[in-house]
Amino acid sequence: MSEAVAERFEELYGAGPEGVWAAPGRVNLIGEHTDYNDGFVMPFALPHTAVAAVSRRADGVLRLHSADVEGGVVELRVDALEPQSDKNWTAYPSGVVWALREAGHAVTGADIHLASTVPAGAGLSSSAALEVVVALALNDLYELGLKGWQLARLCQRAENVYVGAPVGIMDQTASACCEQGHALFLDTRDLSQKQIPFDLAAEGMRLLVVDTQVKHSHSEGEYGKRRAGCEKGAALLGVDALRDVAYDELDAALERLGDDEEVRRLVRHVVTEDQRVEHVVSLLESGETRAIGPVLVAGHASLRDDFRISCPELDLVVDTALASGALGARMTGGGFGGSAIVLAEAADVEAITKSVEEAFAAAGFTAPRVFAAVPAAGARRVK
Ligand code: GLA
Repeated sequence: MSEAVAERFEELYGAGPEGVWAAPGRVNLIGEHTDYNDGFVMPFALPHTAVAAVSRRADGVLRLHSADVEGGVVELRVDALEPQSDKNWTAYPSGVVWALREAGHAVTGADIHLASTVPAGAGLSSSAALEVVVALALNDLYELGLKGWQLARLCQRAENVYVGAPVGIMDQTASACCEQGHALFLDTRDLSQKQIPFDLAAEGMRLLVVDTQVKHSHSEGEYGKRRAGCEKGAALLGVDALRDVAYDELDAALERLGDDEEVRRLVRHVVTEDQRVEHVVSLLESGETRAIGPVLVAGHASLRDDFRISCPELDLVVDTALASGALGARMTGGGFGGSAIVLAEAADVEAITKSVEEAFAAAGFTAPRVFAAVPAAGARRVK
């Protein structure tokens, strides 16, 4: 793919690029809606990537083109980039240039051509992949010397302030920092990381990603509401973030919240979810991989019943997969559509896939896209 992207760059801009970079989408194994509560997450990188061919410019011009969107080259000036002025795909790469310059890095322009295989709107972090690939390319070309976690912070700022989406830090860090064959145990408070070996094939298992094809773009308002509810919970409990409520203090905390049922549900999800991440880490580290299945299922129930961000299609994947012998299943990502993950014995994959497809057809839902995911590499230079 990098050759084709470089060739297209040359057609568009009249000379070959200085380099080509790739950054992956992600799935989250466990730890949902914990990242903006300073909690724990555990994503891994997908083999699907956003690829960027990039050259520097010294004249303050930023030219952007995407293979995935109709339309020609978009030309902007780096000193005229304005937060929330752009509702198109170009807001992601422009936002990164804006965030780098805001942080004092002398980025004086660029020609960029992008092409992505990360499915958009599927809850697999296609936007984070776009942001991170541009950030890494500019970091290399302008010799900024920023580390993966620093690029992730800048990309999050681009998305929060420039694009205007109140997301946490998980997706950008996953895209920037994941390693092949590993899941990333990330503490979102200080971005400390531990790479946990996650080789299901060696143990006769698979992890399926089931993209329900329900696009979640309408969900931003709901995402923001959940985030605000969590912040309210933390304020009522007198802590900086819900991360500071220990699992064994949960009952006492819920009591103190009195009859604010909605905040109680949100707090219960976040505190139990942090505990599930730690549980999954300890199971994987002690070689009890199959035992993570029920923890994933408990995570789904919590997102469905307490956090209330599932949807009929996601519930149908989980229920059908479990009824067909899956070891575990849950929705993954922001919710309200997007994808679910299914942990299964390799021998059961075909039957589970068929059951899910049949259940979707019977319910009159759009056919899902199912693929097996193996932890891939994080962002890197490819040419
Ligand atoms: C989206 C956001 C992340 C995270 C997840 C939910 O993917 O971008 O920051 O909050 O939802 O875990």
